[in-house]
Amino acid sequence: MEYDAIILGGGPGGYSTAIRLGQNGKKALMIEADKVGGECLNYGCIPSKAVIEMADAIAYLKEMPGVSSSVTIDMKKWQEWKWGMINKLTSGVEKLVKSYGGEVVMGRGVIENSRSVKVNNETFSAKNIVIATGSIPSRIKGIDDVYYNKNILDVDHIPKSLIIIGGGYIGVELGTAFAKLGSEVTIIEMMPNILPGTDTDLSRFVDRRMSTLGIKVIVGAKVDRVTKEAGYSVSLSDGNVLKAELVVMTVGRQPNTQGFGLEKINPEMDGKFIKTDKRKRTSVEGVYAVGDVSGQPMLAHKAFYDAEIAADNISGKNAEVDYRAMPFVIYSDPEIATTGIKTDKFNNIPLATNGRALGMNYNQGVFRIYVDNEFVIKGGAFVAPRASELISEISLAVEAGLTSKDLGMTVHPHPTLSEGVKEAAEATYGRSLHYKSSR
Ligand code: NAI
Repeated sequence: MEYDAIILGGGPGGYSTAIRLGQNGKKALMIEADKVGGECLNYGCIPSKAVIEMADAIAYLKEMPGVSSSVTIDMKKWQEWKWGMINKLTSGVEKLVKSYGGEVVMGRGVIENSRSVKVNNETFSAKNIVIATGSIPSRIKGIDDVYYNKNILDVDHIPKSLIIIGGGYIGVELGTAFAKLGSEVTIIEMMPNILPGTDTDLSRFVDRRMSTLGIKVIVGAKVDRVTKEAGYSVSLSDGNVLKAELVVMTVGRQPNTQGFGLEKINPEMDGKFIKTDKRKRTSVEGVYAVGDVSGQPMLAHKAFYDAEIAADNISGKNAEVDYRAMPFVIYSDPEIATTGIKTDKFNNIPLATNGRALGMNYNQGVFRIYVDNEFVIKGGAFVAPRASELISEISLAVEAGLTSKDLGMTVHPHPTLSEGVKEAAEATYGRSLHYKSSR
């Protein structure tokens, strides 16, 4: 039997391609070497946010004025709950793929040529192949015996002390969560500040919060060596030696292009990524690539989007990706969420002007909307609790070509954090109700 597409990888990119192909009436075969749901559902996005939620709940009560509480954490029980929750999610996804007529084979698929893939000693052929193999954590040469996101999210107890190498998305998210859970956390970042890709006037709120949580941040530092005996020793190039129970490496991720026969078809590359056009086609006819393996940003929601475009093209439609309103979220404290592009036309609305935030015992953060000279919304940046949930309003505004007046004149419920979005829209034309800007 010839499939319409064989999909290599069952993560967000792969399973979404399978679902959309099925919805389009096409026959898909999805091959997964480890677990359906991939890195995101099993070892990344979902479990990391679960641990962050637990940590936030504990810190929230602990810091609430007038409340005294003591909490004990049984991580073994929590892990059982976590895997139960994840298994529900991943088996739901697998059922969904199958409900649309898709087939799922567990095993390592290896490309034989642009129309066939071998798995578990059986060869399957298809009109198209979709590469959705994701990414793997970057490693530092010579430093091997450390934890990565996968093992730290699976611990059976809260480590007494934790050194995190790399102060990017994962380092900051996990460092903050484990500090709230009681670990003594040190983050080592080689650049001059943490979250180096993020504007410092946004990340400064996170910097400050990490410092009040007692997280030690060492910037501009290079790790020379990590040794493990009773616990870990981390030697920095300035001669300092730090000790901790666990060391986690979060120095970025790289596309997963090895070990599945990519060399047999030899598609054009873009650095370490497989190069694709806007229809997610590689340079090899009938071969598509989606998600992390196909370029930045390496985000699950970008993989979902790529998948829908690739599946529609395989189904005979003419669809192109347009990443102009791509949200980026860091689940730090407070959360940082951005979308679209920056302009120099904006006015900040401090979080401290939002009654709902104050009632939640939060006052550090900002709402900002970027417009052009005609007040058309081009992007936004929020530093606030649940900024992750608020940013989509700006993505929609960018996609729809709305102006800040459209958004400013939209009634937002009171009291909500979302009022900060409305106020930031009004601030672009000098009419914020609850804040008088000095700009
Ligand atoms: P990242 O690229 O965000 O950060 C890596 C950090 O490590 C950078 O700040 C870099 O300067 C630093 N670094 C690199 N080499 C170093 C060294 N030798 N010593 C000290 N510091 C060093 O990568 P991260 O945090 O590992 O996350 C990987 C990817 O996973 C992200 O790029 C993102 O796409 C995705 N992700 C997304 C999340 C989200 O959307 N909320 C959450 C977590 C991960």
